[in-house]
Parts: sequence; C-alpha cells; structure tokens
Amino acid sequence: MIQPKPQPGILDIELYVGGKSTVQGVQDILKLSSNENPNGPPISAQQALVAAAPSMHRYPDSDHSGLRSALAELHGLSIKKIICGCGSDELISFLCQAYSGPGLEVIHTSHGFLMYRLYAMAAGATVVAVAETERYVDVDAILAAVTPRTGIIFVANPGNPTGTKIPDTEIVRLIARTPKDVLIVLDGAYADYVEGWDGGAGFVERYSNVVMLRTLSKMYGLGGLRVGWGYGPQHVIDVLNRVRGPFNLSAPALIAGEAAVRDLNFVTTHRAQNNWARAWLVTELAALGVASDPSEANFILARFVDKNYAEACDDYLQTIGILVRRVGSYGLPHALRITVPDMAGCARLVSGMKAFMEQVK
Ligand SMILES: Cc1ncc(COP(=O)(O)O)c(C=O)c1O
Repeated sequence: MIQPKPQPGILDIELYVGGKSTVQGVQDILKLSSNENPNGPPISAQQALVAAAPSMHRYPDSDHSGLRSALAELHGLSIKKIICGCGSDELISFLCQAYSGPGLEVIHTSHGFLMYRLYAMAAGATVVAVAETERYVDVDAILAAVTPRTGIIFVANPGNPTGTKIPDTEIVRLIARTPKDVLIVLDGAYADYVEGWDGGAGFVERYSNVVMLRTLSKMYGLGGLRVGWGYGPQHVIDVLNRVRGPFNLSAPALIAGEAAVRDLNFVTTHRAQNNWARAWLVTELAALGVASDPSEANFILARFVDKNYAEACDDYLQTIGILVRRVGSYGLPHALRITVPDMAGCARLVSGMKAFMEQVK
C-alpha cells in the first residue's frame, strides 16, 4: 500500500514505558516506580502555581530569564550558559538532533538511561552501548568505543537505574582522552542527592566539549511540570537554542520551577531525609538477603537470584499495592529499581518483601 513512510530507523524505536502507577482493584498504592520525591513538590512552588493561574492566557517568557537567573544564582553559574528544557528529556533530544545523525555514533553505557538511545535513534544516529563493570560506568570501555564517527557520549552520574556514581577523577580521565570534537554529556539528574557536588558544572567551565544536564523532576518533586536544564559552553547553548521552540516551557512550569529553585531549604531537608531512609532500606533489605550497590540517588537497585525471582517479587508487591520498576530493558532482568519512599513507606516495603520471601521459602 502506498502511504507516507517515516525516516529509516524510526520504526525500530521501542516505545518507552513509564513506571506503573495503578493496579486494578488495589486502592492504597505506594508508587516507587518513577523516582519521584515521596513528599511531593515544595509548598512554595504550589503557591506560585496557584498565584499564576489568572495569567494563563499569556504566552510564557521565551528566554526563561526568571528560572535561569534563579539557577545561576543558586549554583554560581553564568546565566548565558544555561538552557531550559521541557524536562531534561527534551535537552537530550536537542543534543541528539544537533550533534548526532545519520553516519554518526552516540555512545551510552549498557545500563544507561533509555532516552539516550531512543533520541539518538530518532535523530538517525547509530547507537553504541558500552558495557559497564559490575553496574559502574567503565571509562576505559567508553574510550575503547570512541571512533572518528562518535558524536556524543552520554554518562549519567549517578546512573539510572544503577544509582552508582563514578568519581570526578574518572570523569577527568574520560574528558582528557576523548577527542575534543566529541560532545560529552554528564547527566546529573540525581546530582541533587550528592551533598557538596556540583554535578559536573566545573567541567563545563573548563572544557569546551562538556555539557551538564539537570532536572527538577526528582529532588524538586516537579516531574509532572516538566522542567529540566542544561549548562554548557556558549557555542553549544547557542546551537541548542536554535533547535529549541520559543515556548518549550509553559508559564506555570517556569513560575513554579523558579519558586522551587529559590526555596533554599527544600533540597537540604529532602536530601537528608532521602539519604537517611535509603541507608535504612539498604540495611533492612540486605538483612533479608536482597543486595544492592551503594546508591547515591533517590532509588536503589535491588538484585535477586534471577529474572523469575525478581518478577515474582514485583508481582507479589503489586498485589499489596507497592509498585517498583522492572529494569529488564536496561539489561538488568534480575533486578528491581525501587524509589526510596518516606520512612512509613520504607517500613511497608520491607514488610512486603519479608512476606514475599516467607511465601517463596
Ligand atoms: C538519568 C536521567 N536523565 C534524565 C531524566 C529525564 O528527566 P526529566 O525529563 O523528567 O527531566 C531521567 C528521568 O528519569 C533520568 O533518570
């Protein structure tokens, strides 16, 4: 049949499946499948959103000046080198569109965030997945995969769904040995959970081929609003602004995002709470025989003996309203990614896991 055909490769893109949020017949859901802040968004952001409602007929600010200046002030960055996206997903898409394409390769690590692969394919690029070592990004493996056709290297640090973080010394080694015409994207979606770390912003200042991505979807609890941002060399930001639509962020997203960023205590409080609950959860699960790697994010990757066991655990947890994430599509079929809940949620999860283990004994 004659009909319009998409560009080659588009139909090979697998559809992204987000974290489950409902189970038929179960009312009391504990959603731990999308790495959301269990306490929700800052009150300041909610109030800003309500206050902005009467102005919804106005188009948003196309250069995002309020949000960018709040980010620049908070992180001590140059406002000119900040770009905002409809989630950091959109910035990944801009990067792939601008710096990859047919004939070019995009490198990501084997357990790396799926959107790198999907947007690289949408741009017509060839995707190169590089092995990790015991669920840690392996810089030597990445370097070995670089060719004259490499356009972009994506590294999430901490990684999703592994939660592991490689030290800055490894990033330095990656940057030093990568050709200067290859863009290195350091995705710091979970950097807010690492106290005292700049997420890679310092590397952006020093090198002309490094970009940092961040999001307000995780720590700031604004996943539903879609606010991400990037920090990059001026020449890269100028390019990304050419592929960015002028009104890519809605006015409510800009207003609530700015209020959240200016809410200085929010991150400190929620980081402390997350990291404490995470440590408790890891210890309790380990006592049940469920291992996980040291996580620096707001989730842990629980490992089981095999895929069947992991899936049986997920099935059981669903029956009691606890939703976690299967990560077979990340090459980790024997694991489940679990967002760190509040302490009540942690207790409920651990007792659910215990009950599952009793059942399969
Ligand atoms: C590593 C990583 N990067 C980027 C994103 C995209 O976040 P958002 O588009 O919500 O800003 C996510 C979301 O899960 C992620 O885990």
